[in-house]
Amino acid sequence: MRTLRFILAEYRANLRWLVIGLAALLMGTLCQAVIPVFIKLAVDAASPQGFVRGEGLSGWLTDVFMPFKPHDRGHFVMLALGTALGVAALMGVFTFLKRYYLVRLSRRTEYTLKRRLYGKLQNLPAGYYNNTRSGAIQSLLTSDIENVRMMIGPAVMYLGGTVVMFPAALSVMLSLNPLLTLIAMAPLVGLTASTLWFSPRVRRYTTRGQEDLAELSARAQENFAGARVVKAFSRETFEVQELDRLGRRYLYNKLGASRNQSLFQASIWGFSGLGVLIILYFGALEVGRGALTTGDLAAFLMYNLNLYWPMIALGWVTMLFTRAEASLKRLNELADTPPDPSRDGSGGHRPAGLRGEVEFDRVSHRYTPEGPPVLHDVSFRVEPGRTLAIVGPVGSGKSTVANLLLRLYDATAGSVRVDGLDIRQYDANSLRAFMGYVPQDSFLFSDTIANNIALGMNPDDPARAETIARCARAAEFEAEVLALPKGYDTMLGERGVNLSGGQKQRAAIARALARNPVILVLDDCLSAVDTDTEERILRNLKQLSQNITTVIIAQRISAVQHADEIIVLDEGRVVERGTDSDLRALGGLYADLARRQELAAQLA
Ligand SMILES: Nc1ncnc2c1ncn2[C@@H]1O[C@H](COP(=O)(O)OP(=O)(O)OP(=O)(O)O)[C@@H](O)[C@H]1O
Ligand SMILES: [Mg+2]
Repeated sequence: MRTLRFILAEYRANLRWLVIGLAALLMGTLCQAVIPVFIKLAVDAASPQGFVRGEGLSGWLTDVFMPFKPHDRGHFVMLALGTALGVAALMGVFTFLKRYYLVRLSRRTEYTLKRRLYGKLQNLPAGYYNNTRSGAIQSLLTSDIENVRMMIGPAVMYLGGTVVMFPAALSVMLSLNPLLTLIAMAPLVGLTASTLWFSPRVRRYTTRGQEDLAELSARAQENFAGARVVKAFSRETFEVQELDRLGRRYLYNKLGASRNQSLFQASIWGFSGLGVLIILYFGALEVGRGALTTGDLAAFLMYNLNLYWPMIALGWVTMLFTRAEASLKRLNELADTPPDPSRDGSGGHRPAGLRGEVEFDRVSHRYTPEGPPVLHDVSFRVEPGRTLAIVGPVGSGKSTVANLLLRLYDATAGSVRVDGLDIRQYDANSLRAFMGYVPQDSFLFSDTIANNIALGMNPDDPARAETIARCARAAEFEAEVLALPKGYDTMLGERGVNLSGGQKQRAAIARALARNPVILVLDDCLSAVDTDTEERILRNLKQLSQNITTVIIAQRISAVQHADEIIVLDEGRVVERGTDSDLRALGGLYADLARRQELAAQLA
């Protein structure tokens, strides 16, 4: 129970608030439990039999709280009611303190828990996000943490109230009249039975509803993210039906929960009403016998309510605990996911500068232990400032090479080296600071174009605007940006939706260049630009990248033919390697690809 341990630690750190809150809870509940005693005194004093001190605890309470010498009956009534009012005011103060400190504590814990989880999520390996939906992660951060907060705040508060109220009220009731206390308690047996019957039902429906809600929001979230695909494939109606199906299930479970809850509430009021009837009936008989005063009867009626409320709260508290239990389980699963090994702060090597030599030494990789091998024994070496190109059919493992070089994943076998040192020996962030990466899907954030390009830059860089412009120019993106009314300050939609595919790619290239990299990794980043632009970008890069080691992955031969070395991947193996002319002469996969692309170009 790692999350629970964390919460306990948080409570220990704020022990003062907890102690004040719990002390206020104790005092407030005790105040509530003694008020009926003074009502009893007032009613007795006002009725024909006159003031009756009461025995045991109630007598003692009278002596402590009302050490006055009243002149007459009217004066006594006023004193008793005044005392009740005073105690009630005190109860108000304690209730405020209780709520303020306990709620404050739970809100603070919620805040630290959220911050810690967010940090945890940022430090998870890239693989975690492969099989976790972002909607599910969102509900961890929102509803699951909320459930935990409800448990450590309100649930603790109500549970504490019940725990104090029950014995306190019972003690006073017993001192007033033991027999009537027993009789008044009888309906509580029925209430307990009804709690035992309804609670598991409410819990079951609630848990299912919670799962439905998580699925519903994950699905909706994915749907909106993929809104364009949904539209293009005319899936709107289907998606609406699908959400409708999930929504109905959610509705069914929520209604089930609410039906059981309502029946439970009704049974509580039923038993409570029965309690009132029983107390009035037997109480009146007792009063007639002279064994009970009218005041005692009034007090019993008040205690009846005091006892039923905690029982209601108890049902609610069990539900809160059940919800929190499921949430804690999910939170713990997240907490137990091992962090990204490259971010464990193991104190790896932090180079001051790099030459930029890249080497893959017999690297093999599979993404999951059960999954198929994706790379087999891949070896190559790029001297500082040189360019290596990787071509190959779809799914041949090209992006995997980039992923491994960026250390988004650790290779399952073999060694990836930079400047002769295995990249696992480096501090991952220090190493990445020297790398520029253009991912295949050129993801952009919903921010301005300038901020997107400057993503990897030092925010205080005085040459920021200049660098952004220079890199946009190198990526052949500048003219288009300047043509926009707001230029570099144009806001992008989510994932950069208001840019064309080619524009997104060029923004991503500019972003990689702005990092001023020693090693540049370009994963198929020219696929959406025309051959002319491609040529110009490559020419700019060549000029810029005299000292930059470049690994360029591409589909088109035109993008790779000038590279110092080209490797051809097929099903995760290096099947050909050499320069453009070597490979054309070889007459293999590369030559075949080159011939077909040139033929296509001529036809066009
Ligand atoms: N995150 C992942 N988890 C599991 N398997 C993956 C993952 N990413 C890629 N693969 C698998 O690894 C193999 C190689 O994928 P990779 O992305 O490296 O190919 P690629 O050569 O870049 O293809 P493309 O030209 O289409 O970009 C594929 O069979 C793919 O299914
Ligand atoms: Mg790829």
